[in-house]
Amino acid sequence: MATTFSHLVYVSRANVPANSAEELAICLDARIYNRGNGITGILHREDDWFAQYIEGPRTALRAVFFRIRKDWRHSHIDVLTRGENEKRRFQDCDMGFSGADEIRFDEFQRLAGRPPRPHDAAVEDLITFFEQIRRGVDVNAE
Ligand SMILES: Cc1cc2nc3c(=O)[nH]c(=O)nc-3n(C[C@H](O)[C@H](O)[C@H](O)COP(=O)(O)O)c2cc1C
Repeated sequence: MATTFSHLVYVSRANVPANSAEELAICLDARIYNRGNGITGILHREDDWFAQYIEGPRTALRAVFFRIRKDWRHSHIDVLTRGENEKRRFQDCDMGFSGADEIRFDEFQRLAGRPPRPHDAAVEDLITFFEQIRRGVDVNAE
């Protein structure tokens, strides 16, 4: 039987400044943990919000989301979607991070005449945006 991967997309309110040491620490922690636990995904920070796509085997995903939910560096976590798929969407991406100085969701949405905040947008728009980020991440991959 093919392995099934679970995924989850959420938005949250950032409690640390953009480009701060605390924010950098999130990415470093995340990358190490995710690499060791079969989790892949993308984290984006823009203005006062984070959005993250995370995926992995079901139990691993549950465990990482438990870690994420109790982190004081963000709050007001709102799960936009969860589901299962046979293939990972962000294979080899143990935690791609992008800040708003690289690529902006509100710009991406404005060009298409859609709501600028992920809280009001369709989750598919956010996933398409993550895929755009992914292409950027690929360009800079080690
Ligand atoms: C927005 C955001 C995204 C995060 N994403 C991840 C992640 O993908 N993987 C991970 O292991 N930790 C992630 N974290 C960090 C963990 O929540 C944090 O490292 C963990 O709670 C540390 O727990 P410990 O001190 O109990 O080890 C994220 C934190 C925030 C604020």
